[in-house]
Amino acid sequence: MKSDLLLNIADYTRAAQARLAQDAFDYYEGGAQDEVTLRENTDGWTRLKLYYRVLAGVATRDLRTTVLGQPVSMPILVAPTAFHKLACPAGEIATARAAKTAGTLFILSSLSNTAMELVFAQAGTPRWFQLYVYKDREITRELVQRAEAAGAEAIVLTVDAPGLGTRERDARNSFRLPDGLAVENLAPLGKGNLPEVQGSGLAAYVRANFKSDLGFDDLDWLCRSTRLPVVVKGVCRGDDARRAAEHGAKAVVVSNHGGRQLDTAPATCDVLPHVVEAAGDLCEIYADGGIRRGSDVLKAVALGARAVLVGRPVLWGLCVGGEEGALQVLEILRRELDEAMLLCGCSKLGDIGGWLLRA
Ligand code: FNR
Ligand code: LAC
Repeated sequence: MKSDLLLNIADYTRAAQARLAQDAFDYYEGGAQDEVTLRENTDGWTRLKLYYRVLAGVATRDLRTTVLGQPVSMPILVAPTAFHKLACPAGEIATARAAKTAGTLFILSSLSNTAMELVFAQAGTPRWFQLYVYKDREITRELVQRAEAAGAEAIVLTVDAPGLGTRERDARNSFRLPDGLAVENLAPLGKGNLPEVQGSGLAAYVRANFKSDLGFDDLDWLCRSTRLPVVVKGVCRGDDARRAAEHGAKAVVVSNHGGRQLDTAPATCDVLPHVVEAAGDLCEIYADGGIRRGSDVLKAVALGARAVLVGRPVLWGLCVGGEEGALQVLEILRRELDEAMLLCGCSKLGDIGGWLLRA
């Protein structure tokens, strides 16, 4: 048996672990506290079973969709994740180029190791900017204005991190960025470095800089301050999703930040149907957390998601093979979704529905 073949996301995870320093792997992989939500995100998708339809005469599959009106080749988008230069020297530029080749959306984190102006120049469209709200409103305003000028087509406001969930792996490792790496978008604003402290340098950075009393008034401010559509990421309840849409969000992402924030938050597959029910008539709904197989994507679509985001899998691809590795990961998920659609009797995303999850 050829054990070095990289056939699936689990293979990429193991290969990435073998290449990465322990503290970087732990930062990417870890979750908050006991990592209950981290595990349940993946287990949740596995637990759902597919009641496939036979003799459906499916010849070809069409995976294309749109997000906020912008075409993507498949309903699998690249989640915003921090610090891609821990994975490979080209960092976010490699990721942006992989997403472009795959014909899908790239969401750049506020906390990237490469300045947004450089990254967006390499990305295809759509390209969205993920925003963390800083205590200093002028810093936040500047980030939004720069993102607009750099060609971002939406702002993704992350709302589940008014503080950082305690990642005990990072605390034990005293996680910090290696010399030469910085929070590049914030460097010109004097917030480019993680503090040198005992414990997690990122946790200290977030405590010092992120607005902890984030409220719906901040969403209102953002919607007033930008001409770009606003997406609210990190929603775990139907009522919050509806309120976000009523306050101007054009889409919400059902997400628990990949199990990195509030531990024992429910798996996203358990939340998604409630959010679709509460807000599906007002805005687009995406989901992320624990998507590791194409069949997980199909299940999310069956529960009403328009698309999913993937975080860690893309990071593992970057670690293993830079731009090419990130692209391979996206292509594995595409192939798996295509296969799941064939075997379920679906020729287009619109054929996928709740009927697949019950007899
Ligand atoms: C994240 N995530 C995240 N989200 C965000 O809005 N801004 C960010 O900077 C980051 N940074 C980040 C770093 C790392 C290493 C991870 C793993 C995650 C959360 C991310 O967007 C997404 O919600 C989850 O990663 C989805 O779960 P999976 O696909 O990783 O299981
Ligand atoms: C994280 C933050 C940066 O999850 O979003 O590490």
